[in-house]
Amino acid sequence: MKVLGIETSCDETAIAVVEDGCRILSNVVASQVDLHTRYGGIVPEVASRQHILALVPTLRETLKQGQVSLPQVEAVAVTQGPGLAGSLLTGVNFAKCLSLAIQAPFIGINHLEGHIYAAWLQEGPPPDQEPGFPLMCLIASGGHTDLVLMRGHGEYTLLGRTRDDAAGEAFDKAARVLGLGFPGGPYIQQAAEGAQGLESLPKPLLKDTLDFSFSGLKTALLRRVQAQRKDPNNGQDPRQVTELAFAFQESLAQVMVEKTLGASRQHSCRGIIVGGGVAANARLRQLFRERSRIPVLIPQPSLCTDNGAMIAGAAFFRLRKGERHDLDLDLDPGLRLG
Ligand code: KG4
Ligand code: ZN
Repeated sequence: MKVLGIETSCDETAIAVVEDGCRILSNVVASQVDLHTRYGGIVPEVASRQHILALVPTLRETLKQGQVSLPQVEAVAVTQGPGLAGSLLTGVNFAKCLSLAIQAPFIGINHLEGHIYAAWLQEGPPPDQEPGFPLMCLIASGGHTDLVLMRGHGEYTLLGRTRDDAAGEAFDKAARVLGLGFPGGPYIQQAAEGAQGLESLPKPLLKDTLDFSFSGLKTALLRRVQAQRKDPNNGQDPRQVTELAFAFQESLAQVMVEKTLGASRQHSCRGIIVGGGVAANARLRQLFRERSRIPVLIPQPSLCTDNGAMIAGAAFFRLRKGERHDLDLDLDPGLRLG
C-alpha cells in the first residue's frame, strides 16, 4: 500500500511516499532553518506561512522523485499533533483536500508515533523480521523526552517524560550559551569532537522515577561559562567550548541511556527504539549500542529528525487495522502518546 505522509508540525515541510510501512519511495524535506536562524529559535507565524508556500512544491517534488502519480496514492496521512497549531493547520487542511481530490482514505497521526515508526523505515526491501514486542521507546526531540512502553502496534503506555526542558530544547539552549548555532544539537556534537574529557557536568538521573529533568544541567553549564568569562585570563577559548560541549552532551546522553536501559529491564523488553531529532546524536547512538544487551533500533540520522516518511510509515500500521479518520478531524497541538 502506497501512503503519502505529510509532516508540518514544526519548521520542516516534509512529504513522503512509503510503501507497506517500510519502503521509502521518496522523502522530501524542505527545511526552514535558515528563515529562523536569525531569531535563534522558531517563530510560529513565520513557520506556518512558510508551510503554505512550500507545501505544493514539496508535493510535486515528492511525486517526481518517487515516480508516483497522485491517483496511485492509496491513503493520505498527516501529523495531527503535537506541534505548533498554525503549522499543523496547514498540513491537516492540505491533507484533507488531497484525500478529497483523489478519493483516498485520510488519517491523522501522532507525531511521536511517527518518530517510533521511523525505526521500521529503510530505503530497501522490507525487513523479514519485525522487532519483538514489548519494546522500550525513547523519543527525544525538540519538544519531548518521553519513555514509552510499546506492547504491540499502536499500544503505548507513557512511563516517563521531561519535567522541564526536552532533550533537544536543552541542546538548543546549551548551544546558545556556548555561542554556537541553531538548532543546537548538531553544533554541540560537532563542537564536542576532539574533547579530552577535562570538564564534567552533573548527571541528573532523578532516582525512583522515569521522568527526566535537564534544566539544572543547563544552569550548571551557564554558571561554568559565566565563571570562565569573569576570569580576565579567559576569553571565549574554543578549547573550553569543546570541553563544555562534550561534557554537556555526555551528561545528557548518559542519563537518557541509563534511564532507558533501566526501564527496558523493569518491563522485560525485547528491544529498544530510539527516535526523534536527538537520536541523530552520534555519541547517544554509540552509548546505546555499547551498553545495551538487547537490540537497539535507531533510524539513520536523516530519519530521526522530522520527515514525512515516518508519518506515512506509522499510518500504514493503523490503516492495516482498518483505522481511518473522517474529514472533520481537528488538529491537536497537545496530543499525547499513551
Ligand atoms: O524531532 P525533531 O526534528 O523535531 C521535533 O519534533 O522537535 O527534533 C529537533 C531537535 C532539535 O532540538 C535539535 O537540536 C535536535 O533535535 N538534534 C540533535 C541532533 N540533531 C538534531 N540533538 C543532538 N545531536 C544531534 N546530532
Ligand atoms: Zn519531531
